[in-house]
Amino acid sequence: MTPHNLRIVISTGGGDAPGLNAVIRAVVLAADKRGWEVFGSRNGYQGLLDTNHLVRLEPSEVFGIEQMGGTILGTTNKGNPFEFPVSSLTGEVTIRDLSPRVMENFKRLRFDAFIAVGGDGSLNIARRFAELGMPVIGIPKTIDNDLSGTVITFGLDTACVTATEALDKLKTTARSHERIFVVELMGRYAGWIALESGLAGGADVILIPEIPYDIRIVAEKILDIDVHGRKHAIVVVAEGAVPIDGKLTTKNETEAGRQEVVLGGIAERIAKELKDLTGKDTRHLVLGHLQRGGSPTRFDRLLGTRFGAAAIRFIEQGYFDTMVALDPPTVKAVPLVDAVSRMKNVPLDGDTIQTARDLSICLGD
Ligand code: F6P
Repeated sequence: MTPHNLRIVISTGGGDAPGLNAVIRAVVLAADKRGWEVFGSRNGYQGLLDTNHLVRLEPSEVFGIEQMGGTILGTTNKGNPFEFPVSSLTGEVTIRDLSPRVMENFKRLRFDAFIAVGGDGSLNIARRFAELGMPVIGIPKTIDNDLSGTVITFGLDTACVTATEALDKLKTTARSHERIFVVELMGRYAGWIALESGLAGGADVILIPEIPYDIRIVAEKILDIDVHGRKHAIVVVAEGAVPIDGKLTTKNETEAGRQEVVLGGIAERIAKELKDLTGKDTRHLVLGHLQRGGSPTRFDRLLGTRFGAAAIRFIEQGYFDTMVALDPPTVKAVPLVDAVSRMKNVPLDGDTIQTARDLSICLGD
């Protein structure tokens, strides 16, 4: 029997990913069909910390949003309520645990379930609230596709389409100028975006975090291409790629309330090294946040829509403390703890890596 008059609160947290609005729309419409109410917490957990940032989401407000990038609720990769940066009047920042305030607001507003749409960071926070007794359903989102438990996350497909289009455009200018282009793509510690876009976009070299690279092998590949008559080449590098004898390339940026390091700078480094080793004209490009923007592809809209509707079904069935996951041909509920306890990397024995090797694409090893 369908439970009546449920009140659901939903938030989107972490880096935005194309498909988030499709999730929100599906949650609102599937809840409305059951006569339930949906509220949105703005900017991750902000609406649960301060209820002025809660908004009622009516079906009329989500009309047409499935085609929009970003998230109508806003998002942040700061603002973890368990370690919240609070500034004093003198500007001094202290870290406080504001989770009791979130639990109190959740109960006071008589919410029945919380839908957390996020990557590993936001879903880990959601899991901690589940441990405190909050009925939670997680929905995996990230362009990085690094969450376990689901075959794929929405956002990856759109990011790869953008990256592939960028590679297509670079190939023509690379050819005209007989240059080497080194293109840095996102993905944090997983190489999904770089591998899939690099293969689709005809890259000669693809460097991913899962395979530490030797720059001399990359230089040899470039020189080999040159000897065989092609004077230009495309090198795709994931932001989290590491040299065999080195470490991650990071930016020295710190932001209050943000725990993770900011990756970036690897393409510039590789471009310099390749210029020295090959003597060829070399340029680098960081595609950056373009990969998170734009209208979601059909795939990401559909997956986001399926995830949103499934979350409402799982609430109806009482499957809490779980994450919605794609397990083709179906969408199932997996324990939230399993989904966030380990990262999903590119399998080195998988078909996509094998395909790259079959095409003599250099993976740096
Ligand atoms: O997790 C998504 C992601 O885009 C990563 O690929 C990237 O390393 C990071 O977020 C960038 O974060 P920010 O938007 O804070 O610069």
